[in-house]
Amino acid sequence: MQNYNNNIRKIALLTSGGDAPGMNAAIRAVVRTAVYHNIEVFGVEKGYEGLLKSSFIRLDSRSVGNIIQKGGTVLKSARSDEFKTTNGRKKAYRNLKDRNIDALVVIGGDGTYTGANMLHQEFDFPVIGLPGTIDNDLFGTDYTIGFDTAVNTAMEAIDKIRDTAESHDRIFFIEVMGRHAGFIALDVGIAGGAQSVLVPEIKTDVAQLAIEIKEAIQSNKLSQLYVVAEGDDAGGVFKLVEKLNGIMPELESRIVILGHIQRGGTPTPKDRILATRLGYEAVLALKNGYTHHAIGIQNQQLNVVTLKQAIEETKPFDNSLVEMIKILSI
Ligand code: F6P
Repeated sequence: MQNYNNNIRKIALLTSGGDAPGMNAAIRAVVRTAVYHNIEVFGVEKGYEGLLKSSFIRLDSRSVGNIIQKGGTVLKSARSDEFKTTNGRKKAYRNLKDRNIDALVVIGGDGTYTGANMLHQEFDFPVIGLPGTIDNDLFGTDYTIGFDTAVNTAMEAIDKIRDTAESHDRIFFIEVMGRHAGFIALDVGIAGGAQSVLVPEIKTDVAQLAIEIKEAIQSNKLSQLYVVAEGDDAGGVFKLVEKLNGIMPELESRIVILGHIQRGGTPTPKDRILATRLGYEAVLALKNGYTHHAIGIQNQQLNVVTLKQAIEETKPFDNSLVEMIKILSI
């Protein structure tokens, strides 16, 4: 039996930023692990907004039943501007103290982690972060909650686009989510047999791309799929195609933006398992005295980093896989 620090009696739990499939499985795991250890849990509605408005709901084991398979987040989510201010965080801290809450678990992306880290630094309040974002752009974990589902959703859509692209001998530019990161584009590009992927991690050379498109057409490849991460430096798929048309006006193509469909839907087993393990470990981390940390899974093992590291360090992106996609598209 582990020797736990049992000062934690009440915790609050919120989901913040863009929702991600699997967040509900994490909520369920946090609540039930806490209940098992005689810790009371308060769900906070709408992320940091709910902390500012003192929107707490008492959660017990039954209140998180039948949610493991649901997309979205039952706690709802938001992006709060007020929490970015010192006064906002002061208000949130007071609301937590008024309820005698000892610690906070947040599920979200880098913006969520940044807010959590500031709350900890300013008020010495214990906070644990769980990586919940479809973008997969958090350091300290191989995967974030929601990424696998988003890739599966995008993949299904791209397979359908391929059918029509093939029938009409057409070139498609498909934009996937990823504000600052190309992880979705990379996986979808590999699995979907894309001609090429354009990602924020690698500078896009539009003139070179035009040459590659022409060469592919000359080699009788008349239908081609290009996967573009929304954060690509060419400026999103519309700007990219506009620039390409400036170089090759004869290019006739179609644009598809997959958008928020990538954020919804039933979480895959991988996402549910990841979220469940992370939620379980979050409560144990608090009991073990962690106060400003992010929980991740790396090489199938639990991995704990500070929130600061998770925000400041960059998750490695394997550029050679982008090259591989190009080579395999000959
Ligand atoms: O952070 C996840 C994400 O889906 C990004 O990929 C995307 O740029 C952003 O959120 C969209 O945010 P919103 O739903 O607020 O428009």
